[in-house]
Amino acid sequence: MAESLGSVLLRRIKRTGPMAVAEYMAEALHHQSGGYYADGDPFGAAGDFITAPEISQMFGELLGLWTLSAWIANGAPEPACLVELGPGRGTLMADMVRSIGGVVDVSEVFQIHLVETNPSLRRIQADTLAPLKPVWHNDVSSLPEQPWFLVANEFLDALPMHQLRWTEGAWRECLVVPDAAGTGLAWGVERSESPLAALLPAQTRQSPIDGAMAELSLAANAIVTGIAHHVVRHGGAALIIDYGSERFGAGDSLQAVRHHQPVEVLRDPGLADLSSHVDFSQIREACRAAGADFAGPVEQGRFLIDLGIEERAGALSRGATLGQRRDIESALRRLIGSAEMGTLFKVAGLLPPGTPDLAGFG
Ligand SMILES: C[S@@+](CC[C@H](N)C(=O)[O-])C[C@H]1O[C@@H](n2cnc3c(N)ncnc32)[C@H](O)[C@@H]1O
Repeated sequence: MAESLGSVLLRRIKRTGPMAVAEYMAEALHHQSGGYYADGDPFGAAGDFITAPEISQMFGELLGLWTLSAWIANGAPEPACLVELGPGRGTLMADMVRSIGGVVDVSEVFQIHLVETNPSLRRIQADTLAPLKPVWHNDVSSLPEQPWFLVANEFLDALPMHQLRWTEGAWRECLVVPDAAGTGLAWGVERSESPLAALLPAQTRQSPIDGAMAELSLAANAIVTGIAHHVVRHGGAALIIDYGSERFGAGDSLQAVRHHQPVEVLRDPGLADLSSHVDFSQIREACRAAGADFAGPVEQGRFLIDLGIEERAGALSRGATLGQRRDIESALRRLIGSAEMGTLFKVAGLLPPGTPDLAGFG
């Protein structure tokens, strides 16, 4: 039997020392043998979670129309790239292309680019999107120097982030260490102050409460900075949708989910999805520092209602069977309801400076 990823990481920690939470996340998600996203398909009722595009086609259709409006606001550049970060099963891109295709000839204007590391999901995306001839990338650095019209749904939440705890008068990095028996993983904290403390916003850094936790995703900030620079230089637009908040240092948001249930973060790394809330104020700072406009964040429910999701649900319901109408209504509630995804998920736009207000951002 293959050694579990938990044992591999424990052995490594004993050999080379404690791991920062960001390193633990990166290994648990991407370790080449046993990382959660290294292979396999985690979606759907039989998997670990379900995402908005898997709930209903309406989500992708409306994001497609928003993207089209951003393309027009950019002066309808050709050629341009339609880009998705972390495309899952390819459902969102397929729905976007269908709605954009109702207005322009997609293959004339856009080339489809997918940033995806998981080979199983790449195969599923290849099946779903075959006629569109997508091009795959391991990261954004190899995307073409053309305007990008980019979406990232539930992508930034899966990127590694550091956790710092205010204890004994200093911000110290949270660590993963061996447990007391030396047979499992446990939480620890760095002895000295973390140099990352300098990157925390002044508001968090200067008014700490004992035991307070602050989170910092250098990876998310770097990707957003890269996209914002690109949009300023080449034009385009990006839509970022994720669960999160606007408060800097929102506390401990790291979570593990397996078979749709929360599980202990350090138990069985590689078998559960690990994610954290996206701090939209850090994203905004990164975007503005690169010179791009930042729209939002707005709640997903409000964004989709603004784009006409209720009207779209009405149109789909006409001519549908009773059972189909119930499914459409239930999907609508899940996407916009305040007890479901409607308020927890936020939407933000990255745009070239001076872009007029676009639908969804009021
Ligand atoms: C939670 S899923 C979201 C899927 C899709 N956006 C959706 O809404 O259904 C995360 C996706 O990002 C991919 N992914 C995670 N980390 C990645 C990374 N560092 N680079 C590229 N893709 C990554 C996963 O393989 C998966 O396709």
